[in-house]
Amino acid sequence: MSLAVLYSRALSGMEAPLVTVEVHLANGLPAFTIVGLPETEVKESKDRVRAALLNARFEFPSRRITVNLAPADLPKESGRFDLPIALGILAASGQLPMAKLKQYEFAGELALTGDLRAIRGGLAMTYKSHSDGRAFVLPEANGAEAALVTNATVFAAKSLLQVCAHLSGREAMQPYNAPPFASTPLPVPDMAEVKGQNQAKRALEIAASGQHSMLMVGPPGTGKTMLAEEVAEALGMPLLQWHIKSTTKAQQGLYEYDAVSRLRDSQLSTIEGGEKVKNIHNYIVKGVLWQAFTSDAPVALLIDEIDKADIEFPNDLLRELDRMDFFVHETRQTIKAKHRPIIVITSNNEKELPDAFLRRCFFHYIRFPDEATLRKIVNVHFPGLKAALVNEALSLFLQVRELPALKKKPSTSELLDWLKLLLAEDIPLEILREKSAKKLIPPLYGALLKNEADVQLFEKIAFMARR
Ligand SMILES: Nc1ncnc2c1ncn2[C@@H]1O[C@H](COP(=O)(O)OP(=O)(O)OP(=O)(O)O)[C@@H](O)[C@H]1O
Ligand SMILES: [Mg+2]
Repeated sequence: MSLAVLYSRALSGMEAPLVTVEVHLANGLPAFTIVGLPETEVKESKDRVRAALLNARFEFPSRRITVNLAPADLPKESGRFDLPIALGILAASGQLPMAKLKQYEFAGELALTGDLRAIRGGLAMTYKSHSDGRAFVLPEANGAEAALVTNATVFAAKSLLQVCAHLSGREAMQPYNAPPFASTPLPVPDMAEVKGQNQAKRALEIAASGQHSMLMVGPPGTGKTMLAEEVAEALGMPLLQWHIKSTTKAQQGLYEYDAVSRLRDSQLSTIEGGEKVKNIHNYIVKGVLWQAFTSDAPVALLIDEIDKADIEFPNDLLRELDRMDFFVHETRQTIKAKHRPIIVITSNNEKELPDAFLRRCFFHYIRFPDEATLRKIVNVHFPGLKAALVNEALSLFLQVRELPALKKKPSTSELLDWLKLLLAEDIPLEILREKSAKKLIPPLYGALLKNEADVQLFEKIAFMARR
C-alpha cells in the first residue's frame, strides 16, 4: 500500500495535541507537497527529509508524494515533523514495515546527514503520548527531559537509521533510562547575594538541575551576569566566562588556529623552534567551549550578552551545544564533553535571537527591579547607608528613569556608581531634597547618563532652571 499513517504532536501553549502524519505516494510527475497548515520550518522539512534519506542510503521515491498533517486547522511549526515524514515516506514506499508504526509517536528534526537534532517540548509531548498508551521516539538530546514522565516508554535515537533499524527489527533500541543526574539532582543553589529576582532564581534552579541551557533576557543592570556567577558558586563549579562582542565568532569559542605565529616561528626557526613548528598542536588555541568540554570536573559556562554578536553566531553554535562535541580539522581530533556544562546565556535583547536557538534554551525574562528590590540591592553595596539618603536618592533616580525623552535609562550599575560618587563628594541630603525646578536634575547626573543626547538634554534643563 502506498499510504502510511504515523502519529506525532504539535505544541500549543502547554498542550501537545495529536497530529496524524499521512504520507501518500501516487503515480505521476515527481513532486513533494506538504499540506495541513504547515509553517515555514515545516515547509523546509522537504529539503531536510530528502537529503537525510539520500545520505542514509535510502531511495527517495520519484513519485508524487503528498504529506498531510491533520487536523488541518492546527498550526504546525518547527522541524519536529521531519522524522515522522521521513519514516512515512519509507513505509509508503515499502522500505520500512508498516505494522508497528501505530504503537509509537515520533518527533525529531533531521540534519542533512540523517542525524536527529533536539526539539522543543519533549516533556509535554511524551506526557500526552504516554496517556494515549504509545511509546515516544525522539532525539537523543531530548531523552532526559522525556524520561521525566513517570513510566513512559521513551526511545531516544541518534539518527534516522537507528530508528529504522529498530522499527524493522534489525537492531532494537533499549528504552531510555534516565542518566545519573536525574536520580541524583544537583544541589539547589542558594543565591542569597542576589536580591529579589525570585522567579529568575527559580528558573535557574530548574534549568541547572535538569542540565538545560538557560537564556536570561533583560535590561542592563538587572543582575543577569551576577545571577550566573552566583549559580556557579552555589553549585561549587568554576565559572568559565565568554563575553561576546560584535566581532566575536562562534569558532573562537571552539578553537583558533594561529597560522601567523606558526609562519613567524618557521621564518625565525632555530633547531629547537623547528621542532615546535612541525607540531600543529602547538598552534591550536583552545576556546572557552573546549576548556568547558575537557575540564575534569563539571563547570558552569556563561555566554554573556549573546545579542552583541551577529545573527549567525547563535546558529553557528547549535550543533556543538546539541551534541556536546566538535571536530578539530587541523589535528583531526574530536573534542567531546566529559561532562555537560551548566550553560547560562544572557542577552540585553538588542537583537532577536534565531528561533532554532531559542528552542534549545529555557527562557526567562528579567524585569528591572522594583523599588523595594532596588533598596535591598543598595543595601548590599552600601550597608548602613542612612535611610533618608537612600529614599531621596532612589526617588530621584526613578524620576530620571521615567523621563520619557531619555534615550538610555540608567540601570542598577549606574545607580550604584552614582551613589558612590554622592558619598565620595559628601553631597548633603538637602541638595537631594531640594523642591524646585532643579529637582529634576540630580547632582552629579553625569554618573547616571551614558548617552550623549541624554547628557545634552540634562544640560539644557539645567540651563533653563538657572535662568
Ligand atoms: N538583584 C540584584 N541583587 C544584588 N545586586 C544586584 C542585583 N541586580 C543588579 N545588581 C547589581 O547591579 C550591578 C549590575 O549587575 P549585573 O552586571 O549582573 O547586571 P546585568 O544584567 O548583567 O547587566 P548588563 O546587561 O549591563 O551586563 C552589579 O553591580 C550588581 O551587583
Ligand atoms: Mg551583564
